[in-house]
Amino acid sequence: MKSIQVVFLLWLSVSMVGCLVVESGEGKSYGSQDWLSGTDDERWSTVADQFGGFAHAMHEIQYRYQELYWAGLDGNWEYALHHLEHIEEAMEAGLERRPARAKSATSFVNDNIPALEKVLEDGDSEGFEAAFEVFRISCNSCHAMEDMPFIHVKTPEIRMTVIGLPN
Ligand code: HEC
Repeated sequence: MKSIQVVFLLWLSVSMVGCLVVESGEGKSYGSQDWLSGTDDERWSTVADQFGGFAHAMHEIQYRYQELYWAGLDGNWEYALHHLEHIEEAMEAGLERRPARAKSATSFVNDNIPALEKVLEDGDSEGFEAAFEVFRISCNSCHAMEDMPFIHVKTPEIRMTVIGLPN
């Protein structure tokens, strides 16, 4: 082999190793104070951990559950629907992270959300409290099915929301 060919092959192999290193993103860091660091796999794993599992979805859902309740009592239907839609989205995202919980959520997603949605869309003040009660019970059914009956959601009693119908 001519020396020019040897040099070319050497150059080629060094470039390929360089590409592999760049490809795997090894050693790159992101975020304030480079908190997201490591190999690609390590960084993806850190991001997944940061998203959390179901508890994050439930924190969001319990806030929206309370807002929805007071909005319904106020007859603030658009605001109530806004929260119901976000409850649905938060549940979908939670189930994407924890698919094993999907079975217990079946009637909540397929029956209870649509039933409450209809009451809100109709602006049905008479039917709201009964529909919300069924909705609340469906939260607790899922908690029981997931072996967490101690997470027993009650009807909100203290009004925390700062949102109301404009005068
Ligand atoms: C999959 C069925 C399922 C449904 C439907 C469901 N939950 Fe949950 N919920 C869970 C599970 C599982 C946990 C425990 C999550 C964890 O900590 O890992 C939980 C936890 C909670 C918690 C405790 C959160 C904390 O601080 O740790 C609250 C509050 C809660 N849910 C409220 C609700 C409300 C309100 C609804 C209905 C609007 C609801 N949940 C519907 C499964 C469900």
